[in-house]
Amino acid sequence: MKILGISLGHDSNFSLIDNGEIISVYEAERYYRQKRYKLQALNPGEEKISGYQIVKYSDLVETLTYLKNNWGSDFDFIAVQNQGREDEFQRLRLILNKVGIKFKNIENFAHHLSHASLAYFTSPFDKSIIFSYDGAGNDGQTLLFTATGNEINYFKNFHIRFGQAYNNLGYIMGLKPDVAGSTAGKLMGLTSYGEVREDWKEHCRNYIRNYKKITSIFKNNKKIDYGKNHKINSIGLNNIREFNSYLYPNFLFSNFFAKLGLIKQHLKLNDLKNKDFQDLCKTFQIVWSEEVIKILKTSKSLSENLCIVGGCALNGITNYIIEKEKIFKKVHYVPNPSDCGLSIGAALLANYKYNKIKFVGKKSFFNPYLGDYAYDLKKINIFKKNYYSLDLDGNIIFQKIAKIIFHNNIIGVIRGRYEIGPRALGNRSILSNPLNKNMKQILNDKVKHREWFRPFAPVCAFEDSKKFFTNQNEILYMSVICDTKKEYQAIMPAITHIDGSARLQTVTKETNIFLWKLIKEFENLSNVPVLLNTSFNPGGEPIVNFCEVGLKMLETTNLDYVLIENTIFTDFKNKDKLNQIIL
Ligand SMILES: [Fe+2]
Repeated sequence: MKILGISLGHDSNFSLIDNGEIISVYEAERYYRQKRYKLQALNPGEEKISGYQIVKYSDLVETLTYLKNNWGSDFDFIAVQNQGREDEFQRLRLILNKVGIKFKNIENFAHHLSHASLAYFTSPFDKSIIFSYDGAGNDGQTLLFTATGNEINYFKNFHIRFGQAYNNLGYIMGLKPDVAGSTAGKLMGLTSYGEVREDWKEHCRNYIRNYKKITSIFKNNKKIDYGKNHKINSIGLNNIREFNSYLYPNFLFSNFFAKLGLIKQHLKLNDLKNKDFQDLCKTFQIVWSEEVIKILKTSKSLSENLCIVGGCALNGITNYIIEKEKIFKKVHYVPNPSDCGLSIGAALLANYKYNKIKFVGKKSFFNPYLGDYAYDLKKINIFKKNYYSLDLDGNIIFQKIAKIIFHNNIIGVIRGRYEIGPRALGNRSILSNPLNKNMKQILNDKVKHREWFRPFAPVCAFEDSKKFFTNQNEILYMSVICDTKKEYQAIMPAITHIDGSARLQTVTKETNIFLWKLIKEFENLSNVPVLLNTSFNPGGEPIVNFCEVGLKMLETTNLDYVLIENTIFTDFKNKDKLNQIIL
């Protein structure tokens, strides 16, 4: 049964499933080079403004044509997730016809049910609880499902807006949101700087339990920064005495009404280095995790397994607490728990609903390297003329790249198919030396230019990881933030966050042979089987999938090298430096 999965809205994505196997995934942001790119089924020729982005009818036609050329034009089933928008679903059918994609059946699946399906049908379990939580879905925000064999059932819908509350606190802190308006990833990095304030916990709890999004009364159809229309709601947090002087009225010229209590006030804490503000973030994160744990405990009698999914499942701090609490025997994560995984979820739902193959749990790990090869890989011989390059083969490649990294150079890697989901897992990564105490600064100065409070991540061979880190299991997709063991924190300063934590990825020969071999060669030079791994992207853009864009960073940033498959590239002015290392 050949199924095309389609997820429209922000983080648009498409997937090809054949007899239950995920064959390929297309994430629109990688092609259109704007984070969390949105495709929608509009009317012919229509364009509309949505924050930073212009959403175009033609983009969806172009994408479906590309997929038809790569994945074929005949499908048994088309499984759609679009937050339940029926009118858009009907327009999509017309566009599929126009493009020439034929199908026997088509169905529209609910948002969290699709999240849940992705998590469960890629898990090793044949019975599990599924916890799905995010910003918003047409079937809720925070849900528990039960799953047995091919069946997934709604179990409980909780009216807590975990995703929105997290995101809104980022706005209170003055963080710049990403293109889809989310501040959550950045805020998670900031929480590590604070201390828990016991007397603030109840206020944070009130905030999390009672948060509701305030919709702006001003409609703005201009192309503006995402999040500009966001209205802060600091319900609960307003009662923290220490922040009294940071309360502002919601509307201009409304101080008078605010003082009379007629207009609700909101917090603005625009100083990321203020210790009290950092403490609020930390206290909030801990209470947020406690509230999640409370929900999970209500279902622990139903299964010893947990699948966790939805955008909030990217919170590795909470995931680590879930593991340490040992509520469940085993927890299954996915590389793409946010909306970028929904097309696979919808397609797997269709597969196990209509294709009578019995689901007994996946025996193999969920391979994240399911994206496209670099779109312009065929032009590699042209690139070789524009940059200085050397072809490296066999084991030489691992020795030489390890040496480059050991000597504190920064290298971007484009090899094989890209890893799906928001995190770079080695095939579209920038790698550097975790042992250099200045490497975080060097990386930011030369290439990444990220906010000072955001950490860089380690990648370690799994068999060695427990010596250096406090992880209990394999961490395949950086889903769990553990700690660097105390005795190694000073040895690996570039990948250890301010509170000793680390966003570890572990690899084995089976999960990523290139990265594993490279780490082993780096260990031969340094005695430490760990590399610093961060996403390969120009500032503000999605992870690269055009060689040309990655190579351009040799000119626009101080990136030292780019490895494309087995060829290393550098600027002509670095020729002697590269020759010295390689030849
Ligand atoms: Fe979602």
